[in-house]
Amino acid sequence: MPVLPETLNTHRLRLRKPKASDASRIFAAYGQDPDVAHYMIWRPHTEVSQTQEFICDCLRSWEGEDRLPYVITRQDRDEPIGMLDARFQGHMVDIGYVLAKREWGHGFMPEAIEALVSQLFSLPGIYRVQATCDVDNKASRRTLEKSGFDREGRFEQYTIHPNISSIPRACYMYAKCRSDA
Ligand SMILES: CC(C)(COP(=O)(O)OP(=O)(O)OC[C@H]1O[C@@H](n2cnc3c(N)ncnc32)[C@H](O)[C@@H]1OP(=O)(O)O)[C@@H](O)C(=O)NCCC(=O)NCCS
Repeated sequence: MPVLPETLNTHRLRLRKPKASDASRIFAAYGQDPDVAHYMIWRPHTEVSQTQEFICDCLRSWEGEDRLPYVITRQDRDEPIGMLDARFQGHMVDIGYVLAKREWGHGFMPEAIEALVSQLFSLPGIYRVQATCDVDNKASRRTLEKSGFDREGRFEQYTIHPNISSIPRACYMYAKCRSDA
């Protein structure tokens, strides 16, 4: 059984378990957008079948406990605008996130991350939530800083971002740790 609820609500957003019908809407909203994929570890999708396969993989993840990917929608409209992924590694959780370009700049992702982190720290065994981002990904760095994460260091040749280069690139490690530990 998943360790987190299938739905999390914030002031403006709903984070929920994906469903098969999300694939075509995610493909249209951002899955094929090279600007959105620029700093991601995946290339822009060229066929909706790639997004369908991704959503199938997400649904399989929800049957286990290692990874819980949430689709992000607004409170009043069940239309995917992005995703926030929680990957469990013992006492730590690594997060990844993406938002459709038309939704950038409204503080949606910090709001979603704060809700997820709060849920994660309500779990007794979780002490640390972390995220890495390309050193040039200013929007992601700001998102983590606004979400209360500390920058802990720079990891050289850490992640391949294939839309930029086939050579692994430097990333910053950010983390938020449990304050009551
Ligand atoms: C990173 C991302 C999730 C931020 O989400 P968001 O909800 O737009 O976050 P915010 O509104 O808090 O904005 C964060 C920063 O993004 C930048 N930003 C805001 N609007 C922007 C826009 N229209 N275009 C480009 N960058 C913008 C600003 O630097 C902003 O910082 P500021 O608030 O100090 O000005 C979003 O930009 C995104 O999906 N990017 C592509 C995918 C990605 O890079 N994911 C992270 C991989 S590590």
